[in-house]
Amino acid sequence: MRGAKDFFRPKAIGAPEPLREIPFRPSRMIHFFDPSNEKMAAKAPELAQKCDVMLGNLEDAIEIGNKVAAREGLIKIAQSTDFGACQLWTRVNSLDSPWILDDLTRLVGEIGDRLDVIMVPKIEGPWDIHYVDQLLAQLEAKAGLTEPLLVHAILETAQGVTNVEEICGASPRMQGLSFGPADLAASRRMKTTRVGGGHPGYLVRTDPDAEHPDAPRITAQQDPWHYTLARMVDACASHGILPYYGPFGDIRDLVACEDQFRAAFLLGCVGAWSLHPAQIDVARKVFSPEIDEVLWAKHVIEEMGDGSGCVMIDGKMQDDATVKQCRVMVSYAKLIASGDAEYAEAYGFSASDLAS
Ligand code: GLV
Ligand code: MG
Repeated sequence: MRGAKDFFRPKAIGAPEPLREIPFRPSRMIHFFDPSNEKMAAKAPELAQKCDVMLGNLEDAIEIGNKVAAREGLIKIAQSTDFGACQLWTRVNSLDSPWILDDLTRLVGEIGDRLDVIMVPKIEGPWDIHYVDQLLAQLEAKAGLTEPLLVHAILETAQGVTNVEEICGASPRMQGLSFGPADLAASRRMKTTRVGGGHPGYLVRTDPDAEHPDAPRITAQQDPWHYTLARMVDACASHGILPYYGPFGDIRDLVACEDQFRAAFLLGCVGAWSLHPAQIDVARKVFSPEIDEVLWAKHVIEEMGDGSGCVMIDGKMQDDATVKQCRVMVSYAKLIASGDAEYAEAYGFSASDLAS
């Protein structure tokens, strides 16, 4: 077992010190782009102005013949683009693929100082994170980086779900997890070919009416992802890292996309992937807390004074626990407002509120 004190020592001579806290910056949408696609790459600077995170994707959805072009394209874009307040992430190829070694070696060596987070797919257990952790430390030392790169794992295999707590705690580099419903469904032999969202066949039905056995019976569609999402949120929260919903595949169905994102937001996720520019606004709306909820939470905090005891506000009981919920809401709203002037105004935060 690794000693507690060793955890925060660099894993290679000359590598930067590991962070003790994961920086919590707005990351409502992680917008995927294909760096091998010149048209898409040309749009990156413009999209960066409306996104919290832009991610150069090297893994699935990039054709085998374009893998090297995507990697080289990302290096070029990162070197030549000012992303401003928008973070730059990448999704590298899986650890068993023929591209991963060059992905990490080239990216850390050439643009390690411009990348915020490296997303690693198909993580099965802590051993995968230990490998990435050690390799990144060696590459950081070689490149002379002064800040450690953070790692984000995709939760998309049955074994990964089984080991989710150990994955979250495997390295101080762990920034967060994304839920990957497509690979996860395949890995578990779920019978859906959709990417996230509900399924009309996954339902419960009321009992037959004894007097009218043939009468139609009410059904209600259930959420096939609830267990995994909730488990991921608990694992992330207990390790001080951030949970995200991943992809929603039906680009035209923005209503169902919004429902899926909102279910994840309400459970505790802080963002989701956007696979198309149309999903950026959906994520911005859903992962920015509702204005009325924030105003209400500010009101409760004010009325609760030192936060102890019990008061009735508009007929609703408030106590030490509810004021904590309100503080979570307000501090998250402040975070969003710090990078989004429209929401800062709607929530009623002044510059000095945001500085405190
Ligand atoms: C994402 O990578 C997924 O497999 O859903
Ligand atoms: Mg996947």
